[in-house]
Amino acid sequence: MSDKDQKIALISGANRGIGAAVVAGLSRAGVHVLLGCRDLKAGEEVAAPLCAEGGSVTPVQLDVTDALSVAALTEKLEADYGHIDILINNAGVGLDYVPGMSAVEKMEQTLAINVVGGLRLTEAMLPLLEKSAAPRIVNVSSELASFGLRHDPSWDHHDKIMPTYAASKAAVNALTVGYAKALVDKGFKVNAICPGYTATAATNFMPDRTVDQAAVVILQMALLEDDGPTGGFFNDQGALPW
Ligand SMILES: NC(=O)c1ccc[n+]([C@@H]2O[C@H](COP(=O)([O-])OP(=O)(O)OC[C@H]3O[C@@H](n4cnc5c(N)ncnc54)[C@H](OP(=O)(O)O)[C@@H]3O)[C@@H](O)[C@H]2O)c1
Repeated sequence: MSDKDQKIALISGANRGIGAAVVAGLSRAGVHVLLGCRDLKAGEEVAAPLCAEGGSVTPVQLDVTDALSVAALTEKLEADYGHIDILINNAGVGLDYVPGMSAVEKMEQTLAINVVGGLRLTEAMLPLLEKSAAPRIVNVSSELASFGLRHDPSWDHHDKIMPTYAASKAAVNALTVGYAKALVDKGFKVNAICPGYTATAATNFMPDRTVDQAAVVILQMALLEDDGPTGGFFNDQGALPW
């Protein structure tokens, strides 16, 4: 349970990779973190050292494709806290390079997690976020979804072709703009971010960018002041083209 004045954040897919780094960053910023994970044991392994250093991190079971999991979590958060301040839709997959799947299978599974999953969680959490004095939603997207960058031959990733992943994150961007507009009068800040090409299981730990570097822009958007932007798409260098 958190202190009365402590901000409360929920993050999906937080048991490893970029999500786990965001949990650490939020915990060290004094936020009470609800660490969303499909496997509670994996979440507890991330939470334990952070709690030992004085943070407050509670692992919570969350599969964004499972309506029952989302409903059970919503009920628990309503009973335990009555509100949340920050939602980070981080859970995501990229299946374009997975062998043995058709393009349709890749698209269906990717949309189910990255788009419908994030939408399901957002819809469930809106009533709890509306009770916050400063609600924030951060949608973890990717610059691979940027139509603006896609046509720039000098862009670092111009040769990366991941159509189902890119399409899913373009949908995440569209939802970000829609929610930002719909919720602006309620004080929400809703932004999409790209964490950068980062060494995680999702990238076979390929580039040398660390999860702590990737977490910076997510933390920045999660902890935005009231004069911060809404409805934007950012990386740690600033605004990205849609
Ligand atoms: N790494 C990059 O270069 C990069 C670049 C741009 C954007 N991103 C985005 O950053 C986010 C985090 O990626 P990452 O690189 O940290 O990947 P990762 O290490 O593969 O972590 C993905 C997380 O999502 C969770 N997840 C998968 N399906 C889920 C579901 N149905 N319900 C709930 N959680 C689910 C995973 O849980 P399990 O452990 O249970 O599988 C895991 O915790 C993703 O949205 C990704 O698209 C990453």
